[in-house]
Amino acid sequence: MDPKHTLENHPIDFDRFGNQGAAQAQNLRDSGIPNDNILIANREDSYAVDAKSRGFKVEHDFGKAGAVADVLFLLIPDQVQPRVFNEQVAPSLKETATIVIASGYNVFYKLLNFQLKQDVVMVAPRMIGSSVRSLYEKGKGFPCFVSVEQDGSGNGLHTALALARAIGATRAGAISSSAREETAMDLFAEQALWPNIIMLFREAFSVLKEAGCSDEALCYEMWMSKEPAEIFERAAEDGFIQQLKHHSSVSQFGQLSGALALDGVATRQHFKDILYNQVLNGKFCEEFSKIEADLEKDGSDNPLNELYRKSEERNRTAQPRETENAETG
Ligand code: NAI
Repeated sequence: MDPKHTLENHPIDFDRFGNQGAAQAQNLRDSGIPNDNILIANREDSYAVDAKSRGFKVEHDFGKAGAVADVLFLLIPDQVQPRVFNEQVAPSLKETATIVIASGYNVFYKLLNFQLKQDVVMVAPRMIGSSVRSLYEKGKGFPCFVSVEQDGSGNGLHTALALARAIGATRAGAISSSAREETAMDLFAEQALWPNIIMLFREAFSVLKEAGCSDEALCYEMWMSKEPAEIFERAAEDGFIQQLKHHSSVSQFGQLSGALALDGVATRQHFKDILYNQVLNGKFCEEFSKIEADLEKDGSDNPLNELYRKSEERNRTAQPRETENAETG
């Protein structure tokens, strides 16, 4: 069974052979790489069917695909890369092959086994795959982190930039980075920044609901109107503070004075704790590796499904602190 189909409650577009893989392969082809020179290595699943339907050659044997690859884009989920690459691809890979990663994770944590003469380059779009494709089709680009993690040929940067160009990234700009930087920022955002944002929305909903606001009004006010999405769009254009000028004076005054009144000391300490004691020291990676295989299971045996269930339950039962205190105290 396709592991993605086991994840309940969050609809995903299944019509593509991999989020990044589908987008990058099509962009490469449209940039002039002959179809005959592109081989999709994919196990027998719905993604392989989709790749074939789009006219790509598909090889189900990763070892055979590795043996003919001069440039190998490693575009399968991060948690399965060490197993698939080290056991099935690496043994047959040419000793002068270039390996392209789209995330720093497995290279930063040293989970992939490379040969000394191989180039390892990072070409990491800062976009989901559907945007990598749609922006390419519109003739626009997308920001992309580029680095050379191992320069076996001495020509790694040239190759990395050429590949970034071929997938359409340089139209917006390739940004010099590293596997460490990409991993630190990515995991920090996922484990520190966004959990706080989820918590802030949950608590805000709860406090306003207790004050008599209806569920329907709250949903629209907080996210269904897409106002937060619009604010982030404006922030991308004008900057985080300057975008406030699009709002009313009451709003600007409230937001600016409110943010200045928060000292952020506890949050900064919490953020540092996550960055140094979970991300950079490898603790999260070590813990995550232990449950990696369970992510392919069904129902409550899949830890991700359990987290979804608990999160929905927490949202349903969330009470403002004052109520909890009043009830318990
Ligand atoms: P994905 O989840 O869309 O990958 C699906 C592909 O992986 C399919 O071809 C499927 O057949 C294959 N696959 C899944 N499990 C497998 C297994 N156990 N054995 C063999 N093949 C398996 O992956 P996605 O999201 O495109 O990520 C690929 C890389 O791109 C990762 O390194 C990720 O960090 C990076 N990346 C992802 C972005 C995103 O928006 N999803 C954005 C930027 C980078």
